[in-house]
Amino acid sequence: MPVLRMLQRVVGQMLQSPAGGYRAAVLPGRVLGTSSWHIPADANFHSGSLSGTDRPPRVLITGGLGQLGVGLANLLREHFGTDNVILTDIRKPSDQVFHSGPFIYSDVLDYKNLREIVVNHRITWLIHYGALLSAIGETNVSLAKAVNITGLHNVLDIALEHNLRLFVPSTIGAFGPTSPRDPTPDLCVQRPRTIYGVSKVHAELMGEYYYYRYGLDFRCLRYPGIISADSEPGGGTTDYAVQIFHDAIKNGKYECYLKPSTRLPMMYIDDCLRATLEVMEAPAESLSLRTYNINAMSFCPEELAQEVLKHMPEFQITYKVDSVRQAIAESWPMNFDDSNARKDWGWKHDFDLPELVTTMLSFLDPESRVAQAN
Ligand SMILES: NC(=O)c1ccc[n+]([C@@H]2O[C@H](COP(=O)([O-])OP(=O)(O)OC[C@H]3O[C@@H](n4cnc5c(N)ncnc54)[C@H](O)[C@@H]3O)[C@@H](O)[C@H]2O)c1
Repeated sequence: MPVLRMLQRVVGQMLQSPAGGYRAAVLPGRVLGTSSWHIPADANFHSGSLSGTDRPPRVLITGGLGQLGVGLANLLREHFGTDNVILTDIRKPSDQVFHSGPFIYSDVLDYKNLREIVVNHRITWLIHYGALLSAIGETNVSLAKAVNITGLHNVLDIALEHNLRLFVPSTIGAFGPTSPRDPTPDLCVQRPRTIYGVSKVHAELMGEYYYYRYGLDFRCLRYPGIISADSEPGGGTTDYAVQIFHDAIKNGKYECYLKPSTRLPMMYIDDCLRATLEVMEAPAESLSLRTYNINAMSFCPEELAQEVLKHMPEFQITYKVDSVRQAIAESWPMNFDDSNARKDWGWKHDFDLPELVTTMLSFLDPESRVAQAN
């Protein structure tokens, strides 16, 4: 077939929905683009988490020792069995984490090592959490570029090569000052101004490209700021909404680095982890998008402080604005439109602001009046 006609046919196929018909041949890992133009017309897009069997998925979590990974591993282990979920990171796990299930060292920049783990442990789902977050990313742009972009490329190629279902989280930080901010829909202008945001838009686009081009089962949720009691945030712009609880319990006061009226979308960790499991389990045909916003609530420091005051009348908040984080926050969505997630795969949050505050305070201070009142 003449090259031009062949190109026209492939591009035409890519512009259709893969869910409607075909799936690319799995490609040898690092040679994308050389042998990739053959897309069998009769191949089916794979939709099963279980690789056509009734076996539970075997899950690998990269960057698993941060704020979210351990909690996700616990949730997935409850569903799929302890040994079917492998946590990896470049940091040393605590004794508790090390003894609670499989843990392996893995640097997402080490392609061969990551591939070896996928092969040796017969991984079928890959959850890619390894990243440098927004505020930390701005302090080390070259490392953020490496981890967030090169690391993502490694993960995409390995997922494609080994036919994995791949989850990559995105963020409110994938939007920028020219995006509609209240609310921010799934599809709109995305011109973020942090290396974190740029790398996450890149991840969304690359994942969707691999989906349309090769049939990779790529799934992505844009998380709001995530609030958790038993895991430390990793240097994001929304970290204040976690620190405020720790400082309130410990010192009765908190100095906030954002202005009182800075409104951002937020979510309690249990909702975030459940959403991740639900979107990974959703039938492929229910997904009209590959990247979804998810949301639970939206508040500013002033409103959060008011809610804390209901439980701790002596609590004091003061403000010392950090110009870098303030500028980042002001370029991000104030509220997230997650109606597509709710419609397509039934997303529904459990925690609003009052439940969040009660839960955080009673978790961090079990002896308190908050806990006794519940
Ligand atoms: N926490 C949030 O509020 C939030 C919001 C939106 C999106 N997300 C996304 O969710 C994911 C997990 O977030 P988190 O809050 O747990 O992040 P975190 O910063 O707390 O943890 C990230 C982990 O990645 C690891 N890491 C760094 N470089 C690595 C490398 N080269 N190889 C392997 N691991 C490496 C770190 O050691 C760390 O344990 C990230 O991709 C983040 O962008 C988080």
